[in-house]
Amino acid sequence: MKPTVKPQSPNFSSGPCAKRPGYSLANLPTDILGRSHRSTLGKSRLTKAIVDTKRILGIPADYHVGIVPASDTGAFEMAMWNMLGARPIDIFSWESFGEGWATDIVKQLKLPEVRHIQAPYGELPDLAQWNPKHDIVFTWNGTTSGVKVPNGDWIPADREGLTLCDATSAVFAMDMPWDKLDVVTYSWQKVLGGEGAHGMLVLSPRAVARLQSYKPAWPLPKIFRMVKGGELMAEIFEGSTINTPSMIANEDYLDALAWADSIGGLPELIRRSNANLAAFEQFVAKTPWIHFLAKDAACRSNTSVCFSLDATPEQVKKIVKLLDAEGVAYDIGSYKDAPPGLRFWCGATVCTADIEAVLPWLEWAYAEVTKA
Ligand SMILES: Cc1ncc(COP(=O)(O)O)c(C=O)c1O
Repeated sequence: MKPTVKPQSPNFSSGPCAKRPGYSLANLPTDILGRSHRSTLGKSRLTKAIVDTKRILGIPADYHVGIVPASDTGAFEMAMWNMLGARPIDIFSWESFGEGWATDIVKQLKLPEVRHIQAPYGELPDLAQWNPKHDIVFTWNGTTSGVKVPNGDWIPADREGLTLCDATSAVFAMDMPWDKLDVVTYSWQKVLGGEGAHGMLVLSPRAVARLQSYKPAWPLPKIFRMVKGGELMAEIFEGSTINTPSMIANEDYLDALAWADSIGGLPELIRRSNANLAAFEQFVAKTPWIHFLAKDAACRSNTSVCFSLDATPEQVKKIVKLLDAEGVAYDIGSYKDAPPGLRFWCGATVCTADIEAVLPWLEWAYAEVTKA
């Protein structure tokens, strides 16, 4: 039987992710629009984004947080191009975004001392293979396979190498062990449902020490430069961005942060993401034709939840199309490089009631598409 109740929001895309419940563009302040980002007002709005981010995420006071160009990719590239090459590098990858960083390190930066440890979609490589004398590059949550790092216990406090972590699908949804992470990046368009534009770059004191003591052998374009005369350009981490940011995107991010505060901060964001995953877990437990791509429950993402189906790739495509046409679930096809299947974003801006409402539709669509 075709269900009758639709989710309030059909937005299950893994980026840009769903806006927060109750979001309205009309609620954003507009006094900063058409003004300089370097005016007192502009600077104060950018600084607020940094200060509130640090507070809500519980980032240590001695860490630097900056707003940088080009979303998460920009932030992570900036880190790699500034810091890598000082030590051998261990890259761990298990889906396409991690693969992308490996490509840059090997083919673009052409760094010689690199070990690349991979795992197929659905699995996590053996992180214990990391040599803590080496730098490590990894993704906390593999958005295209739905496999996350379960914790930071494997990272020694007395490591010599730096830990460079792309955490764009993880921050605001998972507990991040900040003391174990030297470089963390994410974008506004992810867990809080912000706009694509800027990346956040989080640096530990050890990462800053690397920047101040190591000069890469290659040239750095202006939008990557964060060191001048051997000193960190501290102003970048106080709201003086390298170049012009989108002030409307910043207002949108501030709105998302205020919402996070209003519901109870990080613990509530994590609780909501976990509740959303739990709704899927109950469904998968009683439904024989759908399976989590992530084999180990401890490594199962609570943001980008990926499924394989007992169906042909063509049937999967039809299910995606059918649910889109019904207006009940948008953008739920697996990522282009991932195995055929479904991917539902279930970070905190997605309501558990909407996941519960979409499940009968999923059953209906599967039956429609697979019936003889
Ligand atoms: C793990 C991961 N890294 C990097 C990116 C690229 O992010 P952006 O498009 O914000 O640069 C994404 C986007 O989905 C991602 O999920």
